[in-house]
Amino acid sequence: MNPYPSLFSPLELGGLALANRITMAPLYLGYANLDGKVNKRLLQHYGEMGASGAAMVMVENASVHPRGMGSPFILRVDEDRFVQGLAELAQVIQKGGAKAGLQINHAGRFAHGTEHPVAPSAVPLGEMIPEALSSEDITEIVEAFAQAARRVREAGFDLVELHGGTGYLLAQFLSPHTNQRDDEYGGSLENRLRFPLEVIAAVREAVGPEFPVGYRFLADEWLPDGLQLAEAVQAAPRLAEAGLAYLSVMGGTYESFFLPERKEQEKEPGYMLSLAEAVKQAVQVPVITAGRIQDPALAEAALVEGKADLIGLARVLLADPQWPQKAMEDRAGEIVACEPSCSLCFQKVAKGQPIFCSQWPKEKREYFATRD
Ligand SMILES: Cc1cc2nc3c(=O)[nH]c(=O)nc-3n(C[C@H](O)[C@H](O)[C@H](O)COP(=O)(O)O)c2cc1C
Repeated sequence: MNPYPSLFSPLELGGLALANRITMAPLYLGYANLDGKVNKRLLQHYGEMGASGAAMVMVENASVHPRGMGSPFILRVDEDRFVQGLAELAQVIQKGGAKAGLQINHAGRFAHGTEHPVAPSAVPLGEMIPEALSSEDITEIVEAFAQAARRVREAGFDLVELHGGTGYLLAQFLSPHTNQRDDEYGGSLENRLRFPLEVIAAVREAVGPEFPVGYRFLADEWLPDGLQLAEAVQAAPRLAEAGLAYLSVMGGTYESFFLPERKEQEKEPGYMLSLAEAVKQAVQVPVITAGRIQDPALAEAALVEGKADLIGLARVLLADPQWPQKAMEDRAGEIVACEPSCSLCFQKVAKGQPIFCSQWPKEKREYFATRD
């Protein structure tokens, strides 16, 4: 008998039939071409993820706007010419049996490759002072999200996810730290919700009522003046009720990830479970949790205890793409673990290099470390 009956039970997610509760959480790889296109390494990696036994694979964040790219080697979905490559990506995932999603993003003040990153307000980030968006700019970005979502659908993905995590633009509007506007987009929670709600409405309109739209939700910035859980649980149902299929809950931004206490906390199994649990109590839609869910028994317990509906594996699945298979066959002891003290993938992102896992065999490391 399968030792994790809840983990391997089906779930309907925004009309999609998921075979089990395992999903690959989005993980930026730095494999895309400099021009934002899909290439053979991406196809190989996501093919492996699609065949891993996870019911759903969410492809890493793709940029909706030339001024919204989170890093140089990022996927792009801001023009129709990217649809063809993205279609190959969707197909390679679906071929393995998983539902395929693409996460779409505008990085705002964390944007790369632009001298003048934009943001809700001109709140400095180190030496850089971003440009505050005008209401015309906001309308343009809302439309960019909508067009990107339309392309995701046209490329044949099963769903689209809006990246409201990691302190990127959607989260920047919700945050009292980065949003200090005095117009209708800033101030009260109601006003800070306006931009994300406009994006959801425009995306919904662009993809139609049946196509599932998910949302990566930043439930706590872990900053003293940032969005905190108490306010996030008020925001979550407002977003969900605007037409989302699920919320995928996370904590932290680039301003808090590397604080010493967070670096310690990040080593703990299930370190973001309490955030998911609090959000789940506030919303009617399914909730995804991620964050060092290394042991399938922890995943099973989170589901049984009603803390989440789906388990997101990012580095955990990268380290061992056979995690779902080994869990299903009661071979959890054979899972190759993501090493908590190893931050190689983060270091690679910081250096602008393609990421690989220290746990991979040498040949695989060398293949993915190389660019064409
Ligand atoms: C190198 C790296 C890249 C990531 N890229 C993304 C991303 O593109 N979008 C996103 O929502 N989360 C991203 N995340 C966060 C993961 O989805 C996940 O929430 C986090 O790593 C915790 O899960 P894990 O312990 O299984 O890795 C990234 C994390 C890492 C380490």
